Amino acid sequence: EKGGYEHFMLKEIFEQSKSVLDTMRGRLLVDEGVIKMAGIWDHLERLTNAERIIIIACGTSWHAGLIGEYLIEEFARVPVEVEYASEFRYRNPIITSKDVVIAISQSGETADTMAAIKLAKEKGAFVYGICNVVDSSIARVTDAGSYTHAGPEIGVASTKAFTAQLTILSLIAIKLGNHNGNLGKADFMRLITELDAIPKKIEEVLNSVDSVVKDIASKFVNATNFLYLGRGYNFPTALEGALKLKEISYIHAEGYPAAEMKHGPIALIDENMPIVIIAPKIGHYDKIVSNVQEIKARKGKVIAIINKGDTQVASMADHIIEIPETSECFSPILASIPLQLLAYYIAVERGANVDQPRNLAKSVTVE
Ligand code: M6R
Repeated sequence: EKGGYEHFMLKEIFEQSKSVLDTMRGRLLVDEGVIKMAGIWDHLERLTNAERIIIIACGTSWHAGLIGEYLIEEFARVPVEVEYASEFRYRNPIITSKDVVIAISQSGETADTMAAIKLAKEKGAFVYGICNVVDSSIARVTDAGSYTHAGPEIGVASTKAFTAQLTILSLIAIKLGNHNGNLGKADFMRLITELDAIPKKIEEVLNSVDSVVKDIASKFVNATNFLYLGRGYNFPTALEGALKLKEISYIHAEGYPAAEMKHGPIALIDENMPIVIIAPKIGHYDKIVSNVQEIKARKGKVIAIINKGDTQVASMADHIIEIPETSECFSPILASIPLQLLAYYIAVERGANVDQPRNLAKSVTVE
């Protein structure tokens, strides 16, 4: 059932070009120039007229939510807030019937997310669910929703569910922007064409980086700390990369927006600190270049995720992992794959139980 792979996690990482395609199947119709999603179509007015969209989730799904915020605000121009379900449910949040809550959960069984949904419903908000497990509790309790269709995820560390969540959030953001007029026809077509190309690019990443990442991993098996840095859409990618490493390898890791480095974490940098920096040639690339210079000036060990053919960051980094180019908004899908593999190979070399890390459960059904 592991399909020849040593662990479910590795199998699920390698399934991602197919699972992302499954998420888009029947929904992203480039030739017709439309995004078709029943859950969204039925409630388009409710969603685009929302005064605010509040995304609630935990763990990896919360990271997907942060990227969802960037997507929805950029393309649909609806204000978005992202909250940990566990905080939201206990802090008496301001929420009205004009709000739309999007709850994201792979398992659809997370207790805190479930409780946050109940609270939002009591206050009259419309609740939209993004779940992977069909007919799960959250899928049943929400007013409407979309399944991610990534297929069963067995490894405790979420991988293919995350990239599927990013795919769904991209579809929703682009659809809403197209509907409310914030996204012009040309931009809409450019984005859906780009998104349609993502599964092929995932395959390219999987084929080209696996042995590179495995080799890099072998050099950091004894590290005790890691920093993950990224900017813009890849700030949450950095958080997710750090979470993957923590939960399966038990190495302490922190994710930060790269510019926050000089507000504290830079004090940690010396020759023993590995720093994973997500640096594709998009967005604020020049800023990332100076962040890499600052790290190298302090002798940190840089593992950089760059676009093929990049020489500027490549010339300074200790290790490079190349991914294909795509729009900034979709780059977390591609960049998170080498991060998953890095965590995986480090954990395997450390002899950790990657599919069932200590102290963790696949669905957290207790608070
Ligand atoms: O099933 P959910 O998406 O609601 O789960 C949320 C978190 O428990 C989950 O993402 C957790 O952080 C994963 N182990 C991360 O890999």
